[in-house]
Amino acid sequence: MSNFNQERVLSVHHWTDTLFSFTTTRNPSFHFRSGEFAMIGLKVDEKPLLRAHSLASAHYEDRLEFFSTKVPDGPLTSRLQHLKAGDEIIVSREATGTLVIDNLEDGRNLYLIGTGTGLAPFLSVIKDPETYLRFQNVVLLHGCRRVAELAYGEMIMEKLPGDELVGDFVRYQLIYYPMVTRDRFRNRGRITDLIASGKLFTDVELPELDPQHDRVMVCGSPALVRDARELLVAKGFVEGDHGEPAQFVFEKEFAERNG
Ligand code: A2P
Repeated sequence: MSNFNQERVLSVHHWTDTLFSFTTTRNPSFHFRSGEFAMIGLKVDEKPLLRAHSLASAHYEDRLEFFSTKVPDGPLTSRLQHLKAGDEIIVSREATGTLVIDNLEDGRNLYLIGTGTGLAPFLSVIKDPETYLRFQNVVLLHGCRRVAELAYGEMIMEKLPGDELVGDFVRYQLIYYPMVTRDRFRNRGRITDLIASGKLFTDVELPELDPQHDRVMVCGSPALVRDARELLVAKGFVEGDHGEPAQFVFEKEFAERNG
């Protein structure tokens, strides 16, 4: 049996010249936990060309959603960006990944730190009721260079609070904090700097990060992941893994790196 399902593209949305999202059909046998990724791609010369992409759709939705970026000369993304409704893509039958709440100990506040397309896994995490049953406050931090790159802001601010399943949770427990480094914006600066200076906590009206009460997931460029990890370890946070839940987990964002 093949390790892949064939899916059909349902819609494509271009956020900027380089950032785009698309939805596909979902084989009913495909299951995943919020925060996981799948291998997706195209058949090129009869061979599968695959890259990891986080599932941005909720685990209960009947379509799959992916948030991707065009890597110049990237073998897959340079092709994926031309996808249109009706095209076929292949999706691995299994999903995996470390950014799942099962890898975290119980706590009071859950911080989701994503830069660029590193937001993607957290889109499924914030649509999962389980997230809000485990944590009192869920703080979603999305850092980008430009305002135009703050994809999904409208969905998070305007659509999700009215959602039938998670709307109440979102209204009372989700704090969305977008930030930008290279344009004028109300929240300006790097995530790590806003944490180190304490400005973030003043803005979201929560106490400074504390390993006793806070849990953190990080997804972004290798540099972001390295620096965020250093910052968390210096504050006494312990890294979690499969079978060994702890206080933070991270994953390097995929699309940017692997083309
Ligand atoms: P900056 O504009 O100062 O580089 P990228 O597109 O390179 O992945 O960056 C996405 C966002 O993450 C940008 O706002 C960028 O800020 C920020 N960023 C990149 N590297 C780091 C890092 N090591 N620590 C904190 N923020 C970072």
